[in-house]
Amino acid sequence: MAIPDSFLDEVNARTDIVDLVSSYVQLQKKGSRYWACCPFHSEKTPSFCVSPDKQMYYCFGCHKGGGAISFVMEEEGAGFVDAVAILAQRAGLQMPEADEDRGRQKQRERLYALNREAARYFNQNLSSPQAENARRYLADRGLSRRTITNFGMGYAFNQWDALIKAMAEKGYSKKDLLDAGLVVANQKGNIYDRFRGRVIFPIIDLRGNVIGFGGRVLDDTKPKYLNSPDTPVYNKSKNLFAMNIAKKSKAGRLILTEGYMDTISLHQGGFDCAVASLGTSLTEDHARLMAKYTKEVVLAYDGDAAGVAAAQRAIGILSRVGLEVRVLNVTGAKDPDEFIKKYGRAAFQKLLDGSEGQVEYRLLQIQKKYDLTEDSQKVEYLQEAARLIAQLSSPVEREIYGGRAAAAAGVDRKAMDDEVTRQRKRSSWQQRRREERRAMTPTANLQPEERKLRYQNMRSAMAEEGVIALTLMDSDLLALADDLSPEQFSSELLGRVYGILRERWQEGKSSTLDNLTALLAPEEISHLTKIMQQPQTRANNERALADYIKTIQSECVKRQVADDSDLLAVIQRKTMEEPK
Ligand code: GTP
Ligand code: MN
Repeated sequence: MAIPDSFLDEVNARTDIVDLVSSYVQLQKKGSRYWACCPFHSEKTPSFCVSPDKQMYYCFGCHKGGGAISFVMEEEGAGFVDAVAILAQRAGLQMPEADEDRGRQKQRERLYALNREAARYFNQNLSSPQAENARRYLADRGLSRRTITNFGMGYAFNQWDALIKAMAEKGYSKKDLLDAGLVVANQKGNIYDRFRGRVIFPIIDLRGNVIGFGGRVLDDTKPKYLNSPDTPVYNKSKNLFAMNIAKKSKAGRLILTEGYMDTISLHQGGFDCAVASLGTSLTEDHARLMAKYTKEVVLAYDGDAAGVAAAQRAIGILSRVGLEVRVLNVTGAKDPDEFIKKYGRAAFQKLLDGSEGQVEYRLLQIQKKYDLTEDSQKVEYLQEAARLIAQLSSPVEREIYGGRAAAAAGVDRKAMDDEVTRQRKRSSWQQRRREERRAMTPTANLQPEERKLRYQNMRSAMAEEGVIALTLMDSDLLALADDLSPEQFSSELLGRVYGILRERWQEGKSSTLDNLTALLAPEEISHLTKIMQQPQTRANNERALADYIKTIQSECVKRQVADDSDLLAVIQRKTMEEPK
C-alpha cells in the first residue's frame, strides 16, 4: 500500500526520534547528541547515537542508521507500512486504509477463523472410535490428557476429504482451504486433505491465533512430519512452536529445541519455557523474537552430529542479536524428549543447572576432535584450544578455561599459557597491521560498508555525497542544481537518490530520510544516514554545492572521454579484424 505523503509528514511531525528511541533503550545526552549501547548489535560501550536536530540515529559500530521509520522497522522487524502504523498509533493518528489492505486483512481473519475451526475439528476427532490408534500412540509416547489439551493436539483421519467435508459444512470454500494450506490440489485441480492419518499439533502465534499445523505419522511411514506451508498467516522462519506459552514463563530464559515432541515433553515435565523452530533451521527472525522475551537461551538440541552442527550455527545467530547462549549436553539419549522420559525431570533440571557456557561447549567440541592419547594430536588440540581461549577478552576467563583445557589434555599448564600468549600477540599484531593498512589508504574509511554500494570514483563520490547531504537538509538548494542530472553521478545509489529528491522537489515536496525509507533498501538508508552524520557547515551551502557540482561534472566528462576512447579502440580493432 502506498501511504500518502501528507500522512507520512503528519506522522513525522508528531514523532520525536529521541522520545521514540528512549522507549527502547536508555539514552544519555552528550553534547548535542544522545548515546546508548546499540540495540542492533551487542556491545559494551555506546556507539549508537541519536541526533535530535536531524531526527536520525546512527551506529558507528554496526553502521545501521536511519530515521524514525527505519528504527521501528529494524527494532520491531516490521515492514515499512507496519512501521508507519506503529508510529501512527504512538502519535494517536488513524492509519489511512487502502481497499486492498482491508481485503488482505479480511482474508487473514478468515484464515484464522478457518484454522481455529480445523484445530477444533482435529481435536474432537481424538475422541472418536476411529482414533483408537492415535490415542494409543499418544499414550505410548507418554503424553498426558492435560498436555494434549494444553497444546490442543488432535488427529486427522486417514481419509482424503474428511476435513474438506467438515469445513464445507461450516461454509469454507475450496479456495479458503487452499489459502490456509490445509489441502493440496492435484494436477486436475481436485483437492484433498493435506494431513491424513496423523496426530496434529496446532501452531499458535503470540496473540493466540492458530496459524498452521504440524502432523506426525503414527508409524515409520515417510515423511515423519508434515507441516503447513507458508501462508498469508504463517511464516515458518518467523514463528516458534509453543512461544505463545513460553512467553508467559517465569523461568527467565528460553529453552530452544529442534522438535515438537522435545518441546511438548519439556512442558509436560514442568519446563514451560521450551520452544521449537519447526521444519526449518534457526533464523535471525527467530532469534530476534526470542530476544524480545529473554536475555538467555539454552540450546537443547539432539546429541548427534547434526544436532551439534545445528547448535554451533545457532550459537552464532543467537549471539549476534545479543542473547546469552548456553548449550545443554544431552548425553545418554538421542534428544531431550527421550532424555526426560529416561532420566526424569530432576535429571533434566540438573542438566540445565550445569549447562555449559558456550566457551566450555566449544572447548568440548574441540577436545572431541582429537585423540589425546597421541602426542602429535595433543599439540594440535593445544593450538586449537589456545586459539579459542586467546579470543576471550577477560583475563579471568582465559585463566579458568586455559586451566581446564590443559587439564583435559593432560598437558602442562605453562605450555597452554604460552600458546595462548603467543596467539594473542599474533592476533593483536594482525589487527595492528589491518589498522595500519586502513590508515594508509584513507579512502577505505570513506567506502560504504555494503560491498555492492562501493564507489568506483572516489573524488566524484565525495562530491555526490556532499550534494545529497546538502539537498536532503535543504531541498530548496535544488534550485541551484539545475544542470546537474542523476546520470552524471558515478554512484548508482547516490544518482538514484538525487533523482528522487529532484523529482519530489519538482512536485513541490521536500524530502526527509523517512520519505526515502519506502523507496530504498535498509542498507541504502543506513549509508545515507552515515553521509548525513558527517559534520556539515551550514554556512556557505551555495558555494559548496556549486563546487560539488563542478567536480561531479568534470569527473563525468573524464569518464565519458575514457569510455569513448575504449569504444574507439573497439571500433578500430573490429575494422582491422574484419577488413571489407
Ligand atoms: P519424534 O520422532 O516424534 O520424537 O520427532 P522429534 O521431535 O524428535 O523430531 P526429529 O528430531 O526427528 O526432527 C526434528 C524436527 O524436524 C521435527 O519436530 C519436525 O519439525 C522436523 N521434521 C522431522 N522430520 C521431518 C520430515 O520428514 N519432514 C518435515 N517437513 N519436517 C520434519
Ligand atoms: Mn524425538
